[in-house]
Amino acid sequence: MSITGIKGMNDILPDEVGTWQFLEREAHRIFGLYGFNEIRVPVLEKTELFCRSIGEATDIVEKEMYTFEDRSGNSLTLRPEGTAPVMRSFIEHRLHAQDPVAKLYYMGPMFRYERPQKGRYRQFHQIGAEAVGIDDPMMDAQVLAMLCHYFKAVGIDQVSLQINSLGCPECRPAYRQALVAFLDERRSVLCSDCQRRCQTNPLRVLDCKVPACQEATTAAPSVLDHLCGGCAGHFSQVRTYLEALELDYSVNPRMVRGLDYYTKTTFEMVTGQLGSQNAVAAGGRYDGLISDLGGPALPGIGFAMGVERLVLLKSQNPATAQRPGLFLAALGETAARHCFLLMNDLQQRGLKVEMDFSCKSLKAQMRRAGKLNARYALIVGDDELAAGQAPLRNMDDASQETVALQELAAVLNSRLADCS
Ligand code: HAM
Repeated sequence: MSITGIKGMNDILPDEVGTWQFLEREAHRIFGLYGFNEIRVPVLEKTELFCRSIGEATDIVEKEMYTFEDRSGNSLTLRPEGTAPVMRSFIEHRLHAQDPVAKLYYMGPMFRYERPQKGRYRQFHQIGAEAVGIDDPMMDAQVLAMLCHYFKAVGIDQVSLQINSLGCPECRPAYRQALVAFLDERRSVLCSDCQRRCQTNPLRVLDCKVPACQEATTAAPSVLDHLCGGCAGHFSQVRTYLEALELDYSVNPRMVRGLDYYTKTTFEMVTGQLGSQNAVAAGGRYDGLISDLGGPALPGIGFAMGVERLVLLKSQNPATAQRPGLFLAALGETAARHCFLLMNDLQQRGLKVEMDFSCKSLKAQMRRAGKLNARYALIVGDDELAAGQAPLRNMDDASQETVALQELAAVLNSRLADCS
């Protein structure tokens, strides 16, 4: 029996990889415009990093981490997200000593042991960005502007931005208390997970997908009614800046997020196209995280996009792969040897060229040229080699011209420049 891949961990096959490269390329380009620099951190970290940052009572830490002991007995975890590892690195390398304002971005695989379904996988990829050192609401708006700019640049428009504020350690306890009091009265109708969450992580009850829980919490107290003056003022300024930047958004006071490190602004970019996996990007402010991890008391804000979800939205209009400029059809072994050297020469000059090594019939080779979607085919046999010229066929309109082999590179360059 052949060996298969692991459930929920996907291969990214050659016909999809063009879309991935496009999405990554645009992230490098757009994030660069906003002054963000790339950082690369390992996929494995000490387990404690995620327990301390994401929170012991979250679904991720309670049941979704790939955790194991290495051969020395250290508990290690495959990163379920990128913020904590990036902040660990920021603190460890004292990047704040060089500059207390750091704008960093990253891309790569993340791992969560979730039930796989469309848009939800066990190995998935994030493109994320983190801005450290500035708590001004302008930074929140700038990060959101960059996120919206990215979506526009990659041509994904079936998304909308939702924002909320989760308050701070000053105001959250009073909200939590009000929510717990509300939930206690309805405890018997909540699902068993939520009955447990009432004690461990009551805010998450608002996020439960079970219809009975949603119904029971429709009139739950709103976090926005419990913000302290500082958080309320911050949130209202974020909204003012978003409006000044003409970014569309809606306020969703039930958005609580699945990670404990958030303070103040949180947000999600949601879509109606992916069923229950509706968040294509998500993030927020985490003003206490860096000091909780042993670093300086610096604020931060960031987001991560799920690349598989971007690809699903993008697959409606896939990026076309680059077509070969030329297919060399060689008739006979001498011509094949010549074409082989010619192909290498043209590739070295930057042209995308293909040939078939098996010396099949001209018909079979032209079929291959069509399958590869080549723009031109050059037909070379012994007579053409002797004459130093060969027919060049335009594969799109079947027109043909005779080209001197010496001038082939120049002719192709001008023809391909015309059609690109
Ligand atoms: P998150 O909401 O857990 O936040 O994940 C961010 C995005 O990653 C989600 O909106 C979704 O698009 C994608 N994602 C999450 N889990 C899966 C999965 N199992 N399969 C496919 N895609 C998935 C974070 O990870 C935070 N670190 C974001 C952040 C950065 N907050 C501040 N800075």
